[in-house]
Amino acid sequence: MTYTGTFLVIGSGIAGLFFALKAARLGKVIIVTKDKPEESATNYAQGGIAAALGEMDNPEKHMEDTLTAGAGLCDREAVRILVNEGVAAVRELIDLGVPFTRDDSGSLHLGKEGGHGMHRVVHAHDFTGREIERSLLAQIVAHPDIQVLDRFMAVDLITEHHFKPRQFSRNCFGAYILSEDTGEIHSALADYIILATGGAGRVYPHTTNPAVSTGDGVAMAYRAGCRVRNLEFFQFHPTALYREGDPAFLITEALRGFGAVLTLPDGTPFMHRYSEQKELAPRDIVARAIDSELKINGVEYVHLDISHRNADEIRAHFPLIYNTLKEKYDIDITREPIPVVPAAHYMCGGILVNYDGRADLNYLYAIGETASTGVHGGNRLASNSLLEGLVFAQRAVNDIEGRLRQREAEAKKPYLKRLMPWDKGGAANLAEWVLVQHDLKEIRSLMWDYVGIMRSNLRLQRAARRIDLIYSEVLDFYNRTIPTREILELRNIALVAQLIIRSALQRKESRGLHFNTDYEEVRDESRNDTILEPLAFKNPFGEAI
Ligand code: FAD
Ligand code: SIN
Repeated sequence: MTYTGTFLVIGSGIAGLFFALKAARLGKVIIVTKDKPEESATNYAQGGIAAALGEMDNPEKHMEDTLTAGAGLCDREAVRILVNEGVAAVRELIDLGVPFTRDDSGSLHLGKEGGHGMHRVVHAHDFTGREIERSLLAQIVAHPDIQVLDRFMAVDLITEHHFKPRQFSRNCFGAYILSEDTGEIHSALADYIILATGGAGRVYPHTTNPAVSTGDGVAMAYRAGCRVRNLEFFQFHPTALYREGDPAFLITEALRGFGAVLTLPDGTPFMHRYSEQKELAPRDIVARAIDSELKINGVEYVHLDISHRNADEIRAHFPLIYNTLKEKYDIDITREPIPVVPAAHYMCGGILVNYDGRADLNYLYAIGETASTGVHGGNRLASNSLLEGLVFAQRAVNDIEGRLRQREAEAKKPYLKRLMPWDKGGAANLAEWVLVQHDLKEIRSLMWDYVGIMRSNLRLQRAARRIDLIYSEVLDFYNRTIPTREILELRNIALVAQLIIRSALQRKESRGLHFNTDYEEVRDESRNDTILEPLAFKNPFGEAI
């Protein structure tokens, strides 16, 4: 079957849903999402959305904090766009009915998180993402021009290559999508294709990210010929609950903004030895400090303690964390400390896009965590991610509105008749599947051990040798098997891991989230991005149509 629309949006987190709602007045929108519609990193966001809405605040101050956290690698213009256009975007969420927390006077309650010079984080208690997702989805399902295909996974982008094998790709026509219920692969074609597939935390074994965060957008775009940028900057959140668990339950940074203190298990505070900002230093500093203390003291976790604050206030501000820890783990945070460790949390790099979200393939956009707009540089400032999803989704809609007036996508129509159906491949050998599952475990453990918070040239080189071998095994299996979500995700995880390792090897300095013990932390102050070009990008013949 072939689905057609003006827009094909892949992903139903904040970026995909906000884009869809805004774009629906311009044409038919198809949203493809590989799990339940609400399943996304967005749905688990706790702390909130940063925006200069406080009386003493302004976008310049927000910009300053973003640039400082970004370790000299932010694109200043992208940040200027983020902080200025972000204010209106958050107001739109309010108009859409997101029930943000307010204080007694009815004003928005603003939280504080690491790296922010002031209270700036708009939130809905400590379940901000769930409320955003709920409000956006309510509007989406009621919209006559938006069709949601859930439990459909995008497999690959459709480019010239799928009309004529070995043809170089310059234009995007849609995507092949796998129905998880029937196992059939269909085509979804559109004038404009928007990747909003989120992050890749599942490349690591310990992560706050949900199961859907397997880097599919980066992998699909790179395979189709798009450049990716700064993938070595993977952010580790300092405080995930220390427990066997999948995924690692996040303890929001807003708890530190509310006064929570980090201590060793014996109660000794340590953050004053790492930063004047102590618990509210940017995330890279706090995560590295915890990692060092774990290693120096030979302990498995550190403590995060809020028990000195009023119990009623703790319960009122952090109901999700209070209830989850009490009911699932028998920890009463009003009386006892929380055992925490860092966990992989956020992909700061991604598909290289311009300020309107355009990727290298014509008609293809990338928005949200899968994109590299340049706003996060070497380390994302807390609560800037949801904001980025909104701002660049809106900019992509604005950009496409102009292009639709030119009717330029008409030029793609003659090609579509020649689209080849998906070649299903051979039968799976279940005995081999065990080996492949082993590959997944191996990728995750090598990423944790060699490409984690602390890196070295030796570790990265070892990781590169191992991942090349694993990736070729995975591809071999993929080529001989009928695609399922598991095998497709493994193919993407293996590729994204390889791209992260290659990026990390290219950066010969310690900077932001990328800490390599072989380099003194004397920073090259210039803005030096790591850009990986796929082979297809070097195509000298392909024409944009
Ligand atoms: P997501 O919300 O991850 O959505 C991606 C969507 O794409 C999902 O629907 C997924 O199913 C779908 N998808 C993926 N691959 C495919 C495919 N191949 N085919 C079809 N569908 C696909 N940021 C903040 O700014 N503030 C916070 O307070 C905050 N808290 C966080 C707490 C947690 C626990 C986590 C994990 C992240 C947090 N972040 C926070 C980061 C932020 O939530 C994410 O960066 C942001 O939500 C990403 O939005 P997105 O729309 O780009 O992607
Ligand atoms: C948190 O609530 O600590 C997460 C915020 C973020 O990732 O921006």
